[in-house]
Amino acid sequence: MDQKIIETKVNIYHLTELEPEIQVLINKAKEQVQQAYAPYSNFFVGAAVLLENGALFVANNQENAAYPSGLCAERIALFYANAQFPDVPVRAIAIAAYTGNDFVAYPITPCGSCRQVMLEAETRFENSIDIYMYGTECIYHIENAGQLLPLKFEKKSLEHDH
Ligand code: THU
Repeated sequence: MDQKIIETKVNIYHLTELEPEIQVLINKAKEQVQQAYAPYSNFFVGAAVLLENGALFVANNQENAAYPSGLCAERIALFYANAQFPDVPVRAIAIAAYTGNDFVAYPITPCGSCRQVMLEAETRFENSIDIYMYGTECIYHIENAGQLLPLKFEKKSLEHDH
């Protein structure tokens, strides 16, 4: 038997330690929870995407009475950004979640489907995406989507001899 251990590096920050452009991005994600449509889960998520050209896109989760028809904030923001600027790499995404009466104390990390979509945006432009997850106690920063999705299935997996 052989074995490999896969590690993910999570940088942990407080808001004021981050560069101003990223603080703005996180605050945009936080603002977005107010407009989320989440009557079924009461879990309100905001996302903000920053492109390499400086364009910023925001979104929130959109639920549906037919539960699986809803979509996460991250995928809405990323798909919209890619739809508007199909040639511009994604630089960063910020995520914030609000439930009960406050933002979560410790950050939520994106679901598997959102990780897969982030990975596509990363490999598509060959440009790593910084992922910031907001909590009132701390902010998690992961340096690329690949770290969030080890043993990933990606474009090159479709080639026979990768
Ligand atoms: N949700 C997001 O929008 N992003 C995440 O990272 C986790 C989950 C949404 C989906 C659903 O509307 C609600 O949160 C509860 O799962």
